[in-house]
Parts: sequence; structure tokens; C-alpha cells
Amino acid sequence: MCGIVGYIGTKEATPLLVDGLKKLEYRGYDSAGVAVLEQMQRRISVVKTVGKITNLEHKLAECMPKGCVGIGHTRWATHGRPSDVNSHPHQGCSADFAVVHNGIIENYLELKEWLVKERGHEFMSETDTEVFAHLLEEFYEGDIVNALRKTLSKVHGSYAVGVVAAQEPDKLVAARKDSPLIVGLGEGENFIASDIPALLNHTRDVWFVEDGEVVVLTKEGAAILDKHDHEVNRGVFHVDWDAEAAEKGGFEHFMLKEIFEQPEAFQKTLSGRIQEGKVRLDELNFTTEDVERWEKVFIVACGTAYHSGLIGKPLIEEFLHIPVEVDIASEFRYRNPLLNERTLAVFVSQSGETADTLAALREAKAKGATTLAITNVVGSSIAREADYTLFLWAGPEIAVASTKAYTAMLIAQYLLSVYLGQVKETIPEDKARAILEALRQLPEKAKQLLAQKELYQQLARDIRDAQSIFFIGRGYDYNLAMEGALKLKEISYIHAEAYAAGELKHGTLALITKETPVIALALQKNTYEKTLSNIMEVTARDAMVIGLAEEGDTEIAKWVSQAIYIPKIEDIVSPVLAVIPLQLLAYYTAVERGCNVDQPRNLAKSVTVE
Ligand code: G6P
Repeated sequence: MCGIVGYIGTKEATPLLVDGLKKLEYRGYDSAGVAVLEQMQRRISVVKTVGKITNLEHKLAECMPKGCVGIGHTRWATHGRPSDVNSHPHQGCSADFAVVHNGIIENYLELKEWLVKERGHEFMSETDTEVFAHLLEEFYEGDIVNALRKTLSKVHGSYAVGVVAAQEPDKLVAARKDSPLIVGLGEGENFIASDIPALLNHTRDVWFVEDGEVVVLTKEGAAILDKHDHEVNRGVFHVDWDAEAAEKGGFEHFMLKEIFEQPEAFQKTLSGRIQEGKVRLDELNFTTEDVERWEKVFIVACGTAYHSGLIGKPLIEEFLHIPVEVDIASEFRYRNPLLNERTLAVFVSQSGETADTLAALREAKAKGATTLAITNVVGSSIAREADYTLFLWAGPEIAVASTKAYTAMLIAQYLLSVYLGQVKETIPEDKARAILEALRQLPEKAKQLLAQKELYQQLARDIRDAQSIFFIGRGYDYNLAMEGALKLKEISYIHAEAYAAGELKHGTLALITKETPVIALALQKNTYEKTLSNIMEVTARDAMVIGLAEEGDTEIAKWVSQAIYIPKIEDIVSPVLAVIPLQLLAYYTAVERGCNVDQPRNLAKSVTVE
């Protein structure tokens, strides 16, 4: 998804912008560019190119724009294919303005027609964003903030925009609606960016910009203006992550680093939230009446976050005694779900910016449901708009394939379900105690699993040439199998599918041959014997089977090519541990196949279009 950075100060802007863009690479992009205001000449120089930031650096090496004010962009194509000319920044006819934009201008065709036919503008690109630059030009009367306001009043859709104007070389302006934008506050310099990692090398003090606000930066000062042009008194958020946390820190890939960060992330997600046998979630503070009012719960999310919801569903059903539906956000809104004041709607999203999840949240809110966000990103749109937010505190996740955020989402849902059950007094005390104790043991047990990385490297060599791989399991194991299959396919590009183990014989068994590895999860005691029979069904077809079982299980090894043992833990908490071997297997398989692990083809970390 597009990334924006902007700088105004006393240093050369170009290297700063390029550095910031690199920190946003995780968002996924297909082209990159910068615009720098050459103050003396009152001229804007734009350098942009399709492809990776290294391509941009090559171009900049030939002609580096000099100046201390500029904006930069990484583009993920929506309107118009990836190309040099469609890359941002965009300019109007006179090249007096440069604009970077993240989002979609929905009425751009209508505006473009008006600009071309009625006002004689000529367009260079196929993008929706270019309309923005031409509108600025159209409305500019010596005040860039006014021109920006007028432009914003004409466009419909979503945007975070950064703008520089040749006539006002001491200003950088920006605005947001439905796309992330933050301001970085420095000494004699200020910044805009789509996300915190872009700023960490320069400042730790940020403002989160809200929808409808306009930002005006000079090198000495920064202001946020509301709809009525009144200055907003926004509190400063001090980022206490160390710079290391947003970098790879010694690991070959962000994904591997994030897999290994899980014990620490577990600790953080749990921190302060279990006290004297009770779950304490100060940010929720639900009363018994609140919880008793709900007759139904929806969990709505996309991708990996959706998979975490599949595990949250049986938890809440069991501990709260009410039905739970899990929905893919892009489906949810269009099926007219039964939402009202007696519904709790939970939205799970690592980034807090996924467009479909945000739209689903708005729908639920409009229909009177209580909305609760589970997210990793403070200040994200979903966090700000939900009635209540439970933060994951897993630290920034950079790799496109989600790992530590997934396990943190699971932990958050164990905590939430026990908490709600305790408020409503529907969870038996011994059950709650057993789960909380299991959660407490997670960091240590995860460390034990992570110590066996050689095993996964070997297994990755065994499966790297497979055309297709199946994941099977029952109950919680099946829900986890879906995440295992997604992880493998998204980064190794091997076709992978998860099946409820008992369902295999109804069709999929026809695909099992000795060339089709099967990953079998057998951690749930109540279905263990049945899963074992399903494993026998596939071994009888000569499939190579990798079995995941609990430490001490001597039976499974007789039926599988390789057994992976998970430290003993309460059955229903086991997915938090059992996913770690699946993450590592996917990771090493992708490495064996020479794939771009952190930025898999065609995928983006944060999908802010519907
Ligand atoms: C993208 C990412 C996935 C992620 C999904 C939902 O597809 O590549 O890893 O699970 O979006 O993202 P969210 O930020 O809402 O959890």
C-alpha cells in the first residue's frame, strides 16, 4: 500500500526522504518517487520511477535535487498500471505543485473531464491522484492552505496527501481522510509520514492526524487545523520503541525476526492483564449489564486476522454461552448481517487500516452494535473509530506475512473471552484458572520451540519441490491449519490448502499421492484417535506426512515421516505454540525456493482499498 513521507527543515531533503521510504517498504509498492523544492529557484524537481527504491536511488545518483523541503512516495498501483509516469509525486501543468497521495479519489473521472474540457488542463498519467495536482493549480490564489481546502471539498474518496508549492517554499501541507497520516515533530525540522518507522531515525514525538484535518508544517513549527481552520491542540505521542525494533536486527528477514520476537510479544500482550486469577482489561471496563445485553457476537477481519477470529469464536461461545459468527470483512457488509444494540462486533486487524474491516466497523456502528477493535497500531483508523480497543502491543510488524501479530491476536482473544466470561460469570473458575496459567507459560514454551530451527530447515528441503501441500486437523487444529496453509502459500508460492481432517475422504483424498506432503495437526485430545485415523488414510496413499503432536506422544511417530513435538499445554491454547513450527516451515521453504520472503509478489502488508 502506498507510503508517504515529507520533510521540511535545514538538511538536504532527498536522502532523508529516500531513507523514510525504505522504512515504509513493508507496505508493499511497485514504484517510488520524490519531489524536492529547490527554494532559491522556487522550482520543484521530481524524480520518480517504476520498481524498487534502488531504481530510484540510481536515478537520483544522476541528478540529485537539492533543497530542504520535499515529499516522497511509494506507490501500489490502483488507477493505472505501475509505470514511471503513473508514479508519484504528481504535478499540474505548470509544475508549480507536487502531490503524493495514498487512497482513492472516487470521482476523479468526473473531475478530470471538467478540468480537461472546461479548464483546458492536460494530463500526463492515468492516475486518480493527478486530478489533485490540477485542482490545486486551479484553486491557487497565493495561499496553498486555501487551495488545499478547496481541492478537498471537491474530491470524494480516501486520502492522505502531502503537498509542496513552488510559490511557498517555506511550507509543507498535508491532509487526511480514511488513510493513515502522522506528523513527526523535530527541532528546526518537521515531518509527515504514513507510519512511525519512517520517522524513527529523526524523531520520537508524533501527532496522529484525524480525518478532515489539514496539517501545515514549516521548519520551525507544525499545526493541525480542523474543518473550521481552528488550530487543534493535539497531544504528543512519544514512541518508545527503539530504532532496532523497526529494523531487521541481525536476522536475514523481518519475518524470521518477528517469528523469534514472539516470546517477547506474548509477554507484552499479557503484561498487566492477568491479576489474581482474573483478566484485567482496563481499556474495556464492561459492566455485567453490558455483557448480559449481548445476544450475539460477530468477529470480522481479513487474512490472517480472520484466521485468528476462527479460534476466537469457539472460545467466546464456550465462555459466554452465546453464538459467535466469524466473517471475512469484505463479505460481511454485503450480506446485511443482523446487527443491533444487542450485538458485540469485534474487528481484528494488525494494521488497523484494512479498508474492508474499517468499512465493516462503520456498518456495525451505524446499526447500533457495540464495536470493539483488536489491533496492533495505536492511532490507526480502526482503533480510533471503534467504541473500545484492545491493543496487541506486539511491536511493529514489517514482513507482509503476519506472524507475531497473529499469535498476539490469539492471546488477545483468549484474554477477551475469559474476561467476558468472568464479567458475566459464565466461565467456570477452574477453567479460567487453567487457561490463564497456560497463557502465563507461553513465552517460555515458545522459546523451547524456537530452539529447534535446524529441524524446520531440513523439513523445508524435503517439501520445497512439492506442487501442492495439504494441512489437516480437527477443531482448534483445523482452524490453525488454515493459517499454516496461508503462511506457506503466501511466501513460498506452493499451493496449500487446509482441510478438516474428517472431510478429506469426501473428495480431497483423491488428490493425495506420494508427491503430496500432508501436514497433520493432532494436538486436540478429544479428537486425537479420529485424527490419527485420518493420518492413516493419507499414509496409506503414500503421502509424506509431517505430524504435529504433544510432547510425550509416542503413537504418532509410528504413522508419520516426521513428528514435531509441541511442549505440553492446555489443549485450547495450543494453537499459539503449534503455529510456530508452521511459520518456520513456511519461512524456510520460501528461503529454499529463493522467494522474496518479506515482500511476496502481488501482496501488501496493509490493504487500504476495498
Ligand atoms: C493483508 C496482509 C495480511 C493481513 C491482512 C489483514 O492481506 O498481507 O498479512 O492478514 O492484510 O490485515 P490487518 O492489518 O487488517 O490484520
